Amino acid sequence: MTSTSKDNLNFNTKLSAIDGNNGHLTIAGFALEDIAPHVSLEQMTYLLWHDQLPNNAELQSFTAALAEKRYLPKDTVALLKSAAQHQTPIIDALRLATDSLSIELTQHDTDQTTAIRLLAAIPTIVASYWRLKQKQPLVEPDNTLNHANNFLYMLTGTKPTASSARALEIYLNTTIEHGFNASTFTARVITATESDFISAIVGAIGALKGPLHGGAPGPALQMVFDIAQKDQTEPYLRNKLDHGERLMGFGHRVYKTRDPRADILANAAKNLYQKDADQALYQLAMHVERTALALLSEYKPHRPLHTNVEFYTALLLHGLGINDSLFTPIFAISRTGGWLAHCFEQRQQAKLIRPQSHYTGVFDRRLASS
Ligand code: ACO
Repeated sequence: MTSTSKDNLNFNTKLSAIDGNNGHLTIAGFALEDIAPHVSLEQMTYLLWHDQLPNNAELQSFTAALAEKRYLPKDTVALLKSAAQHQTPIIDALRLATDSLSIELTQHDTDQTTAIRLLAAIPTIVASYWRLKQKQPLVEPDNTLNHANNFLYMLTGTKPTASSARALEIYLNTTIEHGFNASTFTARVITATESDFISAIVGAIGALKGPLHGGAPGPALQMVFDIAQKDQTEPYLRNKLDHGERLMGFGHRVYKTRDPRADILANAAKNLYQKDADQALYQLAMHVERTALALLSEYKPHRPLHTNVEFYTALLLHGLGINDSLFTPIFAISRTGGWLAHCFEQRQQAKLIRPQSHYTGVFDRRLASS
């Protein structure tokens, strides 16, 4: 039999449902817009891992367990120092350092303790590596700060404003989970072999690294920078479309209407720029978006093309003063909670993922007789 069986293509999950035709994303039963902007990253992660929001005592204990595990092993710091000397790209340093967390695991570690360790340590790896690359002293995690707040603190060395920390937290919540995308599927395939969660997350980071998956926000913002002046917007975008180029930050393989994540991030970016960031850049980005949407409907009337999550991710992270080389690693920080939720779910389902291949080669070859 050459066709792939239905069982190998359909997977059950309680974590999220994507309705691409109507632009809805459901996360563990909640419409994304009803949950992501209203809870902390700790609550969002707990919901995905336990299929319910935590009560106060559960939230306190989850938050404390995470804060306690933010430190990095000495070997991991040494590895990051060596990577910085070699100018290793941040996403590769993250993958290497995440793998090195295995060094300190013991036989007493469970999936649960390993998951907490990964979720807690990954932001410290990204922030520490960034500072090593900038030749700045490392900043120890602050256990009194929540996940998003502490990451910005370790990255910049100063306590973030409440609005900055909240903007980052909304981003982390909004992109934490999105069905069986390539990196999530990778994590599930690895877990399904009864391998460990560190291996699963290392594999997921490797999949996220590819520009077709985790690499678009930088170019979306670059377009706004290249345009620079409002009156250059239309000629710049027309020139791109006339040359058959794509406008970065628009269109989506699954969403045939507006990506619901874009609306949440648009709102978070608006609030952030009003309080803490460059209003002129924000106004220019809004003008670029409006013009791009009008031109896309003129040039591609057969294809509904809308703003995707990458456009506002770039604007939001830039507004937080974050360098674009950190956009994909920060996407990994967000996805870690979602990847791990899938690892738990896959562990429960306890079923090897083994698609069938369809052989397209020839049969009956023979060695030439000598
Ligand atoms: N700009 C201009 N035209 C576009 C764009 C765009 N951003 N996106 C799609 N189109 C056009 C294509 O040129 C094509 O036109 P044609 O029918 O005249 O040849 C038509 O729409 C269909 O294109 P496909 O590639 O088949 O559409 P698909 O839905 O598979 O593409 C994708 C999705 C890859 C995201 C695409 O929209 C794109 O390249 N966007 C720009 C890059 C980007 O923003 N990527 C981030 C996506 S979000 C995420 O990954 C989390």
